[in-house]
Amino acid sequence: MERLVSLCKRRGFIFQSSEIYGGAGSVWDYGPLGVELKKNLKDRWWNAMVRARDDIEGLDAAILMHPRVWEASGHVSGFVDPLVDCRNCKRRFRADDPAIKGVPGTPDVQCPVCGMKGTLGSARQFNLMFKTFMGPVEDSAAVVYLRPETAQGIYVNFLNVQQATRQKVPFGIAQIGKAFRNEITPGNFIFRTREFEQMEMQFFVAPGTETTWFEYWKEQRMCWHQSLGLEPARLQFHQHTKEELAHYASAAFDIQFDFGGTLGFQEIEGVHNRGNYDLSRHQEYSGKKLEYFDQPNNRRYIPNVVETSVGADRTTLAVLVNGYREEQVPGENEGRTVLGLHAALAPIKAGVFPLVKKDGMPEMATRIAADLRTRLPVFYDESGAIGRRYRRQDEIGTPFCVTIDGQSTTDGTVTVRDRDTLRQDRVAADRLRDVLLERLAA
Ligand code: GAP
Repeated sequence: MERLVSLCKRRGFIFQSSEIYGGAGSVWDYGPLGVELKKNLKDRWWNAMVRARDDIEGLDAAILMHPRVWEASGHVSGFVDPLVDCRNCKRRFRADDPAIKGVPGTPDVQCPVCGMKGTLGSARQFNLMFKTFMGPVEDSAAVVYLRPETAQGIYVNFLNVQQATRQKVPFGIAQIGKAFRNEITPGNFIFRTREFEQMEMQFFVAPGTETTWFEYWKEQRMCWHQSLGLEPARLQFHQHTKEELAHYASAAFDIQFDFGGTLGFQEIEGVHNRGNYDLSRHQEYSGKKLEYFDQPNNRRYIPNVVETSVGADRTTLAVLVNGYREEQVPGENEGRTVLGLHAALAPIKAGVFPLVKKDGMPEMATRIAADLRTRLPVFYDESGAIGRRYRRQDEIGTPFCVTIDGQSTTDGTVTVRDRDTLRQDRVAADRLRDVLLERLAA
């Protein structure tokens, strides 16, 4: 993980937020390559969940919502973690932190950081929602929350979307957006942060059909993660026990990815059977009917919801961990670092290099790069030894490198090098764009 974090900084994937001020607690910024990688991941989700289907609509709801939303959703009373403070060193821990041996609040229990005995207070409930004020007056009537999940924006718009699109149950609403949680113990790079992005879909179904849809979405979502190139052996389901279930869920499965090291298998997505909990609560708290009219059967009901909720940042980390490798190259002394990213996710699709800076090679390479750039993100590089240039692309996951050499200027062919197999073949320059598009789509 340390080497990956260092690569991410060095090559412009991910930086610590406000680094020049010493950093902001567990908040991260995406640099030029990181923003492309995460955007490719989000596009892939949006394409699979919205564009490729006629039963799911897209939405982009606001982060700030009416404060009653969070009372109705149960987050004001239920989105809490038990927290303990050390009176001596002022550090805060989750009460269930395995480093705390014994019951906090009792005299013999030691603080895991300063080692003092009897300084840990009893556990108290800590709400994870960030609060702020709307408007100029900072009083309790002006309190609003930064949303801790994007789902509520979908529930409160359920009828707006249904009526505007004339969708019939079963159908879904999907959105991608920021969520905020004042996590007590964030960490592990972008795994658990206080500001993150979720890709959530709420599928509204007729009462009695939710178990079938729950199984359907479990399978669909697992296939999607595999389609990103995540190794099947590193993916598994984890069924929530009664104690683990969130306040809104009657059944839940996590899709876990094996991050290796001390993290091991951890949740990257949750598939939840939320019943009609959210819509019923919003109907109750808003006083507005949120029923669906089932015309053929002439009946009204509040649909049940199957939710799929995946973290864009956590999945980005899974993709990076899955792809990172250090290896020896046959016949070479120097090893190489490779990000074996799925071609669809790679920020740059092809590096374009003139072998040397003379004999018309830079001119031809510049023309080729400009042509490719009309369809693909490419990177032109003429500095340093060719082997160095290949290595620089390998470590950012670029699937192909195109080299313009002495032969290119005479017969109009270029070499295409494959990141993973290291094989090179010659391709006619005027067919290059189509060849790369074909290989990228394969
Ligand atoms: N609407 C349901 C919901 O929010 P969740 O299991 O709390 O469910 C869903 O979160 C996903 O959001 C997680 O699987 C994870 O990928 C991501 N996520 C949650 N908290 C996060 C955090 N603090 N940092 C990064 N990602 C987080």
